[in-house]
Amino acid sequence: MTLTNQVALVTGAGNGIGRATALALAAAGAHVIAADIAGQQAEATAETIRSSQRRALAVQADVGDLADIDRMVRQALETFGQIDILVNNAGVTRRADIMDVTEQDWDRIHRVNAKGVFFCLQRVAREMILQRNGRIINIASIAGKGYVGASNVAYAASKGAVIGMTKLAALQLAKHNINVNSVCPGVTRTALSDANLQVRAQQDGVTLEEMERRRADLIPLKRANDPEDIAAMVVFLASAGARNITGQSFNVDGGLIPD
Ligand SMILES: NC(=O)c1ccc[n+]([C@@H]2O[C@H](COP(=O)([O-])OP(=O)(O)OC[C@H]3O[C@@H](n4cnc5c(N)ncnc54)[C@H](O)[C@@H]3O)[C@@H](O)[C@H]2O)c1
Repeated sequence: MTLTNQVALVTGAGNGIGRATALALAAAGAHVIAADIAGQQAEATAETIRSSQRRALAVQADVGDLADIDRMVRQALETFGQIDILVNNAGVTRRADIMDVTEQDWDRIHRVNAKGVFFCLQRVAREMILQRNGRIINIASIAGKGYVGASNVAYAASKGAVIGMTKLAALQLAKHNINVNSVCPGVTRTALSDANLQVRAQQDGVTLEEMERRRADLIPLKRANDPEDIAAMVVFLASAGARNITGQSFNVDGGLIPD
């Protein structure tokens, strides 16, 4: 087991990439705090982990709210005494053309995707500094690197913010033995991407299946990610083998973006 007895906190762990990541970290030996704004879904992830003999805690928390972040971290520490791995995964978007993005879209998306990532990182880093040890893994997106199929411009900007803060946070936290990296998923089959696909199918007047086929056809490796493809990269970045990797943002995208 590569992560035996390590403690991992995953935000947005109730669904999609966050859930798959929480399960993969547990399968690698970690105890997991599954946090989500949807408390019941966080609990379902924690319950699945417990049934595999690993310890797990579910926390209902909104990462856009600093009081919630503080409560989430305190609950994690009360239960496990430490946090070795933080996966900043919670994220939101909606598919919209550049001319249809509203102030409400901007605020909603940046509150979770940029502000939420930063303040979770800062709060957990406070504990990791005391431990002189930590791995922080942010789920960004190839949208932050110019992917033409990104759901909207505000979302792309929020993911660019994650990639930027990953670099500086890595440099400023390196002296505390804390590594900070990002994973940039490409098209990944989850509720979030299904909602985007439905809008695109409607716009193009084709069936969902046809839109899915067209989407896969644009990917050099001809397949969209499953959430487990992202989880595998997170487990590697949390492992001993990645001890000298920091400040990087790695694409997992079947070759969509060559950077
Ligand atoms: N699915 C893709 O194609 C894709 C591609 C690139 C990047 N990503 C990124 O991966 C991450 C996970 O996306 P997903 O596709 O699994 O989405 P999802 O919608 O399936 O799951 C997101 C989870 O985050 C939770 N969440 C939303 N707002 C929250 C908040 N304020 N506080 C706490 N939890 C909150 C939701 O309840 C949900 O359980 C996001 O950051 C997303 O931007 C996804």
